[in-house]
Amino acid sequence: MPGYELIGEEEKREVLDVLDRGILFRYEFPDQRKGIYKVEEFERAFRRYVGSRYSLALSSGTAALKVGLASMGVGPGDEVITQGFTFVATWEAILDLGATPVFGEIDDTLCLSPEDLQKRITKNTKAIIPVHMCGAQARVDQIVEIARKEGIYVLEDTAQACGGRLKGKYLGTFGDMGEFSFDSVKTLTTGEGGMLVTDSEELYIKASEYHDHGHDHNPKLPRGLEGRNFIGFNFRMMELQGALGLAQLGKLDYIIKCQRENKKRLKEEIGKIPGVTFRNILDEEGDIGSFLVFFMPSPRDAMDIKARLDGQKIPNIYWYKNLWHYYGEWEHLLEGKSVIRSGYPFKNPDGSTRLTYKRDALPRTEDYLSRAITIPINIRMEGQLEGILEGLKRIRAEWSS
Ligand SMILES: Cc1ncc(COP(=O)(O)O)c(C=O)c1O
Repeated sequence: MPGYELIGEEEKREVLDVLDRGILFRYEFPDQRKGIYKVEEFERAFRRYVGSRYSLALSSGTAALKVGLASMGVGPGDEVITQGFTFVATWEAILDLGATPVFGEIDDTLCLSPEDLQKRITKNTKAIIPVHMCGAQARVDQIVEIARKEGIYVLEDTAQACGGRLKGKYLGTFGDMGEFSFDSVKTLTTGEGGMLVTDSEELYIKASEYHDHGHDHNPKLPRGLEGRNFIGFNFRMMELQGALGLAQLGKLDYIIKCQRENKKRLKEEIGKIPGVTFRNILDEEGDIGSFLVFFMPSPRDAMDIKARLDGQKIPNIYWYKNLWHYYGEWEHLLEGKSVIRSGYPFKNPDGSTRLTYKRDALPRTEDYLSRAITIPINIRMEGQLEGILEGLKRIRAEWSS
């Protein structure tokens, strides 16, 4: 799945373009940069690709989540609903703004269950973050419909599904905002980096100002004299990252094509193992093919298959025991561990409890993940794919006997 597999001449050319000018920052130096604005160019190309009106590049996907929520006005007293199967960044961003993450169950898509979501909405719910996990779609159209009725924002976490679609529409463009990550292991990489997309001018302007120390970006004034509407922070993307993003974006369709072909071959073979069922992909055409997830009838069967995959040296992930992506393994959240002296956000300054999370709160998520095994798909699997397919055939023969 990672775009780093394809770092080549195109990336070198774009980066050298920046180094030749010597201007490494997205703002300022209009004379020296001779019209080269790589971050802006990347933003333009990205929003054209996904079909959104506005786009803002950021220093990471986590920053994009935080800036997106901040532009929605999320803060203390607000609840944000997300899922118990995601990377920690999703709820870190919520906690960092002083708001409360509320965890919902996943369904057979391995993404937020709209049915469960409905039960968790309260008068304090300000936003919902469905996460398009492992390269494919959440039931985002249903989630947006629920949110619209309740007057709640939707920020799609599309970190793992860049280029994915549902019924022809790009993931990240269904809700009020969509967030993407370009970190080291993502479909497109800029080393570190992220993007927000939106059709709302108001949200875009707030996000743009907040991510740049509150600068109001008044084109008539030199940067040092720009005004401020509120306090902000620094989550800016660098020109070198913008340059990498431009080159990588040009490869996105090719990346998706390769992954989908590799996934198809693996899926055919895995489907022959008795008892295997697959994760529900709502729209096969829009799956970016970065992961193949299948279920076994029981957790025991899943662990058995995992041991056999390990034995055949076939790369696989058992999310249920993954320290970074599954609620039940987030002991720092469950035990309320904080770097802040007062224990915030888990404790109030007077030492009383502010937030607690229970390990067994998400039984359906636990059921799905304890039976799920994932095969990560790479772009280049030449030389590797045949070996994996042979290994799978051996597993099937053993399993069937
Ligand atoms: C679902 C999800 N959300 C957010 C992020 C955060 O992205 P970044 O690493 O760019 O901060 C990740 C990264 O792994 C992710 O998988």
